[in-house]
Amino acid sequence: MPAQVVTTTDLPLPKFSVGKVRDTYDLGDRLLMVATDRISAFDCILPNGIPDKGRVLTQLSAFWFDRLSDVIANHLISMDLAELPPALSNDATLRELLAGRFMIVKKAKRFDFECVVRGYLAGSGWADYQRTGAVCGVALPAGLRQGERLPEPIFTPATKAEEGHDLNISLDEMKRAIGEDMAQTIADASIALYKAAASYALDCGIIIADTKMEFGLLDGELILIDELLTPDSSRYWPVADYRPGGSPPSFDKQYVRDWLEASGWNKQPPAPALPAEVVEGAATRYREAYEWLTGHPLPE
Ligand SMILES: Nc1ncnc2c1ncn2[C@@H]1O[C@H](COP(=O)(O)OP(=O)(O)O)[C@@H](O)[C@H]1O
Ligand SMILES: [Mg+2]
Repeated sequence: MPAQVVTTTDLPLPKFSVGKVRDTYDLGDRLLMVATDRISAFDCILPNGIPDKGRVLTQLSAFWFDRLSDVIANHLISMDLAELPPALSNDATLRELLAGRFMIVKKAKRFDFECVVRGYLAGSGWADYQRTGAVCGVALPAGLRQGERLPEPIFTPATKAEEGHDLNISLDEMKRAIGEDMAQTIADASIALYKAAASYALDCGIIIADTKMEFGLLDGELILIDELLTPDSSRYWPVADYRPGGSPPSFDKQYVRDWLEASGWNKQPPAPALPAEVVEGAATRYREAYEWLTGHPLPE
C-alpha cells in the first residue's frame, strides 16, 4: 500500500504551534510533535505533500539525537504509539496517520535563538561574506569562494522572530541577552554537535554545509530541543556533486526549486502544484538521505 501523504493534522488535543512543516500539540509537561509531509520553498508552503517526508524528518532527528546523546541531553521521550494519549492510541486511523512521524518530547523553556553552525559558505553567510568579509561578525580569510569549506566551523546565532525573517546577531549580543556562560555553553555544544555530525555524514556521502539547532532549559539543565540535523534544518549536499565556486545543489529540494524557477511562478502565494515526477524525485531524495546516513531503508 502506498504511504499515506499527510499535509494537515487535526488531533483532539490543544495545539501548541503550527509551523511550516510540523504540527505540535500540548500534553502538559510534554509536547507531541507531528511532522507532516508539507514542503516549503521560497518561504511558501506548496500545495503538494512529499510522501514519507515527515517520517524521514522524524526518524532522522531521532537518529541524530541518539547518536549525539553523549554530547548533550535532548528532549526526546518516545516515538512509541503505545505512549500516546488513549484518545489517539485507541484510534486505528490516527495510529496509521501518526506512526513513524511523531515524537513525544519534554516541554522545555526555550531560548529564543536559532543556534546556527556553518561549516561551509552558503546562503545568507555567503551574502554577508561578500559584503563584509565576515559572517555575522566572525572574520574569515579573504578569497573564499561560494560553497567553500571554512577553516573551522563557526557559530552564527539568530534571534527567533515571531514573524518574518530571523535576525542574525553576534555571540556577544547573545551573551548580553542570556549571560556569558550560558551563551558560551550553547555555542560550544552547537559546534561540537555539528562537528561530530558533519564528520559522520561525510563518510556517508553527505556534506552538512550548515545547520540550525534550538536549546531549552528543563529543571535548570540545558537540553537540545526541536528537530536535529534534518534536511529541513540543515543544508545537505551530496559529496559527489560538490564543486566550490558555485551554489551547490541541495540534496532534497533541488528538483522542487528548479521546477518552480522554470515554471515562471512569481514566488507570491499561492504556489503552483508540482507535477507527479517532481514530487517523486523529492520523495526519493528524502528517503535516500535517510538511507545513506543510517545505512538502512526507512522502516515501512
Ligand atoms: N522541547 C521543546 N520545548 C518547548 N518548545 C519546543 C520544544 N521543541 C520545539 N519547540 C518549539 O516548538 C515549535 C515547533 O514549531 P516548528 O514546527 O519548528 O515550526 P516553526 O519553526 O515554523 O515555528 C518551535 O517554536 C520550537 O522552538
Ligand atoms: Mg522550526
